[in-house]
Amino acid sequence: MKQTVSIIGAGTMGSGIAQIAASKGWNTIIYDINPDTLEISKTKLEKILNRLIEKGRIDEQIKRLIQKHITYTTDLSSIKPSNLVIEAIVEDLSIKTKLFESIDEIVDSNCIIASNTSSLSITALANSLKDPRRFVGMHFFNPAPLMKLVEIVPALQTHPDVVRKAMQIGSDWNKIVVRTKDTPGFIVNKVARPFYSESIRMYEEGMATPAEIDSSLKEVGGFRMGPFELTDFIGHDVNYKVTETVWKSFFNDGRYTPSFTQQQLVLAGYLGRKSGQGFYSYPNENQPVNVNKDKATAIVNRVIIMLINEAADTVHRQIASVEDIDTAMTKGVNYPKGLLKWADELGIEECVRRMDILFDEYHEERYRCSPLLRKMVRKGQKFYGA
Ligand SMILES: NC(=O)c1ccc[n+]([C@@H]2O[C@H](COP(=O)([O-])OP(=O)(O)OC[C@H]3O[C@@H](n4cnc5c(N)ncnc54)[C@H](O)[C@@H]3O)[C@@H](O)[C@H]2O)c1
Repeated sequence: MKQTVSIIGAGTMGSGIAQIAASKGWNTIIYDINPDTLEISKTKLEKILNRLIEKGRIDEQIKRLIQKHITYTTDLSSIKPSNLVIEAIVEDLSIKTKLFESIDEIVDSNCIIASNTSSLSITALANSLKDPRRFVGMHFFNPAPLMKLVEIVPALQTHPDVVRKAMQIGSDWNKIVVRTKDTPGFIVNKVARPFYSESIRMYEEGMATPAEIDSSLKEVGGFRMGPFELTDFIGHDVNYKVTETVWKSFFNDGRYTPSFTQQQLVLAGYLGRKSGQGFYSYPNENQPVNVNKDKATAIVNRVIIMLINEAADTVHRQIASVEDIDTAMTKGVNYPKGLLKWADELGIEECVRRMDILFDEYHEERYRCSPLLRKMVRKGQKFYGA
């Protein structure tokens, strides 16, 4: 029988997720409180599908089929026939909680209810349902139809069958699914913190300019975008908020302390590309800069070791498996290599040595070496294989 999914919120993420579901033949209902947003979502989908036709990826008939699968509504009671509900509204715990209480009353008891939240606790959201066992996090990445990764996040209360079904649906929708514990930032938004924060730190210390750091990480590190151009692209309000939430949610752990420099950008309204000014001015006519080889290597090494240490901490806390962490970072944010594979290649002993050099220099919490790396050195272990 045909499956029905309801997507709650027709913004950036909701529209993308609806496109995926409809393309996979699901009856797709998109609900939003704002009729204009629904109209915009519909028009955008039309444009996207036309572009796919131009590229020869789909034909006119498939386009019409996808559109036929989607119903747009401002009436929440229309979501009644759903097998799955995915919420993608504004990131606000009390607004989401109220919405889940209403959804709980409308859909059947065997309908899975999921949230695409990036930073709220799945366990707290599950608590808004009478039966929290049917709740799960399904965290897509932007743009949802293009990014391969979905993080599946069981709440403390989630029934194992619900986790299995959510993972199966993710795979059926051609996504690569990873499983993560309900901890701040899940895998990707936790492990990626040092990419931004350590780069900003080097800039604050006068070690290099944003352009030099961006060039080094792209040309020597193999990253698709540098941290300064990337945060300008994401928006400093959004990126700062994620950092702040992860920091607060880990009970102000010094490893995640937000940067004063980025806070200043937000306070000034220098939000990046969308405001015309961030670390760079837009339109950005900066040419790639040449960075002295030793300096570029030092920059890349420092960012990589901090990322590896964060990935090791994620294994150590049993938030996710080694394989899932590497998959998440390569498929969710396009890192050139899995960080734990990178650690093996560098040698675990060398990773510990590099962290200890940083800690000796600063004596700050952010540079404390993951105990897992030390234990692995003692036992002669690697992340992959013996
Ligand atoms: N944008 C991203 O990169 C990204 C990535 C992953 C996850 N997320 C998460 O996805 C969710 C949505 O993010 P977005 O970027 O698509 O936001 P958005 O602002 O583009 O869209 C939110 C939509 O929700 C609607 N809305 C607000 N309150 C509502 C309510 N009570 N009932 C129904 N609709 C309501 C708004 O009208 C709007 O259309 C957030 O939880 C966010 O954390 C965002």
